[in-house]
Amino acid sequence: MRVTATSSDIEKAAAVLRDGGLVALPTETVYGLGANAEDPAAVMRIFEAKGRPPSHPLIVHIAAADQLDDWAAEVPPAARLLAEHFWPGPLTLVLRRGNRVPLEATGGLETVAVRVPDHPAALALLSAFGGGVTAPSANRFGQVSPTTAADVQGELGDAVDFVLDGGPCEVGVESTIVDVTGERPAILRPGGVTREDLEAVLGHPVAVPSCSGVRVPGQHPSHYAPRARVVLVAPDEILAEAERAQEDGHQVGVFLPPHLADAPVKAHAVVALPESLAAYARGLYGFLRELDEQGCDLVVACLPAEEGLGLAIANRLRRAAGPRPSA
Ligand code: TXA
Ligand code: MG
Repeated sequence: MRVTATSSDIEKAAAVLRDGGLVALPTETVYGLGANAEDPAAVMRIFEAKGRPPSHPLIVHIAAADQLDDWAAEVPPAARLLAEHFWPGPLTLVLRRGNRVPLEATGGLETVAVRVPDHPAALALLSAFGGGVTAPSANRFGQVSPTTAADVQGELGDAVDFVLDGGPCEVGVESTIVDVTGERPAILRPGGVTREDLEAVLGHPVAVPSCSGVRVPGQHPSHYAPRARVVLVAPDEILAEAERAQEDGHQVGVFLPPHLADAPVKAHAVVALPESLAAYARGLYGFLRELDEQGCDLVVACLPAEEGLGLAIANRLRRAAGPRPSA
């Protein structure tokens, strides 16, 4: 993994956190907008910078699994097992809130989301800082998550005190959120750790959210959304739908699946999707940004099979295509 952050950058970023400032930090999933988890005023600045309602809970990032008991009131055996297997990594555990976590960071909930990110610059920052860092994705509320330092600048500009550049994110979609407060662990948001990986470690099936995704508190129907409207169709309707919309006067961007790579496409812009789901996940938000930049007002895409990382990709595409608040 490429790291462009120097040790003096890490020191500067840690100092900003100590002073109650906001640091954009790279993780393996997406860039986060970080603040000292134990400083309620700093945490509130995150919501302001993002334009996010303060009732939406944040994830506390920590340097190592052995700090979990500092932040959670109770750590059930399944949580320890998952932390042991997947941390550092794209897995977030929802546990009962420890006293150290202010209610500002949990949106008033008595549970707290915690993860150890798998990125050398993030881990170096967490170690240098010493405490927990609350960090949502570093985008304006409801928009596409940033996967490069340049994306963060474009989303948040001067609202961030320091951007730690750790290169492009390797995973590209957010962490998998697993609620371990119930009888059985349940996925609240599919992400970088697959359902199959979780089931292999736990030894039993793991429930996934409904398509609407409403089980995760603090999510809006439309989320992870580019400026262009996203329309999802069956794979064999992609070319016809793109042509129809283009003829209707739209500037159409197409997510072209590999099996149609050689097909003639009538559209304003085309993203040729990679074969591998890992590459698709890594590129997903960049592809959406690219079509926005090319001036598309409509993106036509189909859902991948919902296996492995396909589950997270399909979840994000559905959310991007969800109903928008009428402006
Ligand atoms: O990969 C990631 O998870 C990235 C990087 C920066 O770590 N972070 C991220 O944060 O995606 P954010 O705020 O964009 O999404 C966090 C999700 C939200 O949907 C929130 O509702 C959920 O986590 N969440 C946080 N605390 C929760 C809790 N106590 N119970 C249930 N859901 C929670
Ligand atoms: Mg987000």
